[in-house]
Amino acid sequence: MRLVLVGPPGAGKGTQAEFIAENFGIPKISTGDIFRHNVSTGTDLGRLAKKYMDAGDLVPDEVTNAMVRDRLAQPDAKEGFLLDGFPRNVAQADELNGILDELGAPLSVVLDLDVDFDEVVKRLSGRRTCKQCGHVWHMEFDPPKAPGICDKCGGELFQRDDDKPETVRHRLEVYHEQTEPLIGFYREAGKLVAIDAFGAVEDVTERAISALTPYAD
Ligand code: AP5
Ligand code: MG
Ligand code: ZN
Repeated sequence: MRLVLVGPPGAGKGTQAEFIAENFGIPKISTGDIFRHNVSTGTDLGRLAKKYMDAGDLVPDEVTNAMVRDRLAQPDAKEGFLLDGFPRNVAQADELNGILDELGAPLSVVLDLDVDFDEVVKRLSGRRTCKQCGHVWHMEFDPPKAPGICDKCGGELFQRDDDKPETVRHRLEVYHEQTEPLIGFYREAGKLVAIDAFGAVEDVTERAISALTPYAD
């Protein structure tokens, strides 16, 4: 399955990506995670990306597109993949179509996680991420047993720099202006499946897996 997840910041893309990728046996490719990894290891790419991420803006397309092109050329992506956070505007969606045309491997489906703005603000303000395994927690909605420590691996949890209220507001504007048009783009291409992303994490996972199962080969 070649799958793209779309939805506003805080919709639960990263949370669900982990379960969906595991269920269908495909690698999860998150552009946000790749950028954050480069920031924490201090690469040139990380230094460049950090300026945009801290402001809540998109990293320039030529940088992001080249990174995704390289990642999709890795052997583990040959049998399918889940993209989380890419594409994020129509130019990136055109680029992805071009890459997949060259590979002779069209997109199977685009899953839209549908949730309203009030809910995403609550989700982002309580988000904590594990430094070690990357698992995403929420202080109120999905808390680990011991505060600040990951149940899965014992790693330390941190709050993302771009989850400050001003930056969240700007990320939501950027989503509305640049990313939301992709929903119409993929609907017209006959690729879009939307699910209700409210409710408990496990319930959303169940909805996602049943919506996607017809596209698994
Ligand atoms: P990225 O990391 O992709 O951030 P985002 O799109 O803003 O999305 P988030 O990761 O904030 O939200 P999510 O949907 O993954 O939600 P999560 O599962 O964590 O991008 C960051 C930056 O990188 C961008 O701003 C940009 O600068 C750059 N970038 C990345 N890709 C790019 C691209 N293609 N082009 C250019 N620049 C790019 O869940 C949120 C919280 O809610 C968690 O605490 C979770 O526990 C909780 N939660 C999840 N589900 C539920 C539920 N059902 N009920 C209650 N709480 C829930
Ligand atoms: Mg995410
Ligand atoms: Zn962990």
